Amino acid sequence: DNPVLQDRFGRAIDYVRLSVTDRCDFRCVYCMAEDMTFVPRDQVLTLEEMSRLARVLVRLGVKRIRLTGGEPLVRRDVAHLVRDIGAIEGLRELNMTTNGAGLTRHAVALKAAGLNRLNISLDSLDPERFKALTRTGNLVQVLAGIDAARAAGFERIKLNSVIMRGRNHDEVPALVDFALARGLDISFIEEMPLGQITEHDRELAFVSSAELREQLSARLELVPLAEKTGGPSRYWQAPGSNSRIGFISPHSQNFCHLCNRVRITAEGRMLLCLGHEHSVDLRAVLRAYPDDDTPLREAIVDAMAIKPERHDFSLEPGEQLVRFMNMTGG
Ligand code: GTP
Ligand code: 5AD
Ligand code: SF4
Repeated sequence: DNPVLQDRFGRAIDYVRLSVTDRCDFRCVYCMAEDMTFVPRDQVLTLEEMSRLARVLVRLGVKRIRLTGGEPLVRRDVAHLVRDIGAIEGLRELNMTTNGAGLTRHAVALKAAGLNRLNISLDSLDPERFKALTRTGNLVQVLAGIDAARAAGFERIKLNSVIMRGRNHDEVPALVDFALARGLDISFIEEMPLGQITEHDRELAFVSSAELREQLSARLELVPLAEKTGGPSRYWQAPGSNSRIGFISPHSQNFCHLCNRVRITAEGRMLLCLGHEHSVDLRAVLRAYPDDDTPLREAIVDAMAIKPERHDFSLEPGEQLVRFMNMTGG
């Protein structure tokens, strides 16, 4: 099964992040403005359109799909979508990234529908800080969601923590302890400058992954894992534990040469790189040719030609991309 989709830098694209909604029940400070305007519903792909797109992508060699948002669990009937996409022959993995708040309600149904893995955001273990970071989120609800996911039988759950100086950079050891005690993986993420945010200065809040590893090395002996995951995380392991500790370092250690992925926004725009605006409107093709997949297939293959070589994020105020993170789910 050779990869079919290739960009002009020779990278094989076999992984797609599909945003099922731009809406979310949280308003994390690094992701959204407090007062957001969401995409009108008729401009969002229907679940049928998403499944059709997924089928065509898998026929083009895509092996892994990750459902993202906004928050995927606020989209009604997302478990049906999981069932439909999960049944596509040739797809190896169907995963989801969630804020965790909906898992007490949905974890069992998602597992039954065939979802393989869950990534859950968790930036703080302090209820008040958690509230300040997510604006509308509730820590107790998310911790219950993590428990529900474990109880439902999900394996290799990964936590995601975006680390910002002055907000949560001192919590890295506590977050690692939390993950290790439960056999979870955890990734620490350098904040990316998407959308004009006003809550903090991203340059001042920046903490490099190297600094976090340094902070941890006083308590844990971290061993680097050679394993390439095809994702941006570089993983380390603490002796005596199966948990992987990952670092996603868009600023301090670029990973773009290994990029295996493209994104699809909730409106059906294929976005070729998180750090650029190069995109192709697949919704127009889906709707213009409801009974013929050939134009859709061609549009996807052609899109590979405009995939940029790498992101080039600048942390300087005023240099952020206009697009907020909730359009693409990261
Ligand atoms: P895998 O699906 O296992 O690769 O997981 P992941 O860690 O890539 O996905 P997740 O949804 O947990 O995202 C974690 C962080 O990685 C988020 O902050 C994403 O924005 C970031 N991320 C994922 N892919 C890319 C990428 O291609 N480029 C950049 N710059 N960041 C990415
Ligand atoms: N920079 C880095 N990561 C971000 N996420 C959301 N916004 C940003 C940002 N500006 C993360 C979320 C979630 C993942 C999908 O992306 O915390 O875990
Ligand atoms: Fe919602 Fe995730 Fe954005 Fe937070 S980071 S506002 S949980 S989409």
